[in-house]
Amino acid sequence: MQIPFSPPYIDDDTINEVTDTLKSGWITTGPKVKLLEKEIGEYCNVPNVLAVNSATSALMLVMHWYGVTRGDEVIVPAYTYCATALAAMHIGAKVVMVDVKDDFTIDPEKIRAAITPRTKAVIAVDFAGWPCDYNAINAILADELVAEKFAPSSNIQQQQLRRILLISDAAHSYGAKYNNRVTGTLADITVFSLHAVKNVTTAEGGVICINMPPPFNNADIYSTLRLWSLNGQTKDAFSKSKAGGWRYDIVYPGFKMNMPDVLAALGLGQIRKYDSVLLTERRRVFNSYSEAFKKYPWATPPPFNKQGYESSYHLYPLIVQNITEQQRDAVIDLITEHGVAVNVHFIPMPMLTVFKNAGYNINDYPKSYALYSGEISLPVYPQLTNSQCDTVINAVVSAVNKVIGND
Ligand SMILES: Cc1ncc(COP(=O)(O)O)c(C=O)c1O
Repeated sequence: MQIPFSPPYIDDDTINEVTDTLKSGWITTGPKVKLLEKEIGEYCNVPNVLAVNSATSALMLVMHWYGVTRGDEVIVPAYTYCATALAAMHIGAKVVMVDVKDDFTIDPEKIRAAITPRTKAVIAVDFAGWPCDYNAINAILADELVAEKFAPSSNIQQQQLRRILLISDAAHSYGAKYNNRVTGTLADITVFSLHAVKNVTTAEGGVICINMPPPFNNADIYSTLRLWSLNGQTKDAFSKSKAGGWRYDIVYPGFKMNMPDVLAALGLGQIRKYDSVLLTERRRVFNSYSEAFKKYPWATPPPFNKQGYESSYHLYPLIVQNITEQQRDAVIDLITEHGVAVNVHFIPMPMLTVFKNAGYNINDYPKSYALYSGEISLPVYPQLTNSQCDTVINAVVSAVNKVIGND
């Protein structure tokens, strides 16, 4: 493929960080992970940040800590990657899917309508890097009538918060802005993904930003979640490896979800130039696409900025208006013939076998289906040159014109 969809950004600084770790004699969870947590915390203005092995693990860990379990309900958008829902299913909860708005993010009023006394968490997804309407969602969850419905279990966290937990699935939105604030403190808990295709990557990885309101002690929550991510063991392998440090205890039936230092090093190499290079270059690509597509009446570019708000420019979900799903597929085939790799984000979950078999039906999510039918995700990454952007634009325009008969 002449223009791949999403290669990772690996420069000499990243390679040097990884090499440094390999030479240090310590490759699993240790000082590099601590540094990554600290630097992400500084960037997002959230002092307590835990790195784990994926965003999926992060979501599971947080819901487990909040005592979400069998019989409970977790509200998620129908239009997201399956991991958002699978994380809730893995801990036994029932997934309640709701439809999204024109900007692809969860519809707050649909959340309100879906809340029952069994609802324990809402996972809002910052699709493509564009933040959800957190003011509206937070207001709904704090609403007295909604809070009255909340039926806490004996879980101490639920007893203390006495409302539905808001988790931001910010897998796409590292560095995005909502109301002049970067993502990380817009919900009770924010989860970033550092998977290979994300804006910042550790190959595989996830990050939990802990932002619980008073009287919660976020530093204590960090320590608890860290123990849970490391088998419930009181000392990590790094502390145990020090002379005399061998004795440990297992205090929880924990998971194994820790991030190794050798992967954290990859992320360190990238976050230090996130604003100056990675985000700037992604913005350039976005702008060039949006400038080009605004002259075509069939094109709806994705939202990416307004006063105080900015995308992280993770995905460019172009909507080709008034075409069917089959026509969209034909457009993609033609674009591919030009050597340009594109994608569809996402196939709405109710269209996937596992969810269909569980009784979800895409007809209940008309907005999700309408968005999906016309959606084509274009390549966005810092290394994409202006002339490659032109190749992408020309390939899209020529393919669409052919399919809708303008040619
Ligand atoms: C919206 C969303 N949530 C969660 C995830 C899961 O991330 P991870 O692969 O780090 O578990 C992804 C991954 O693509 C995603 O797109």
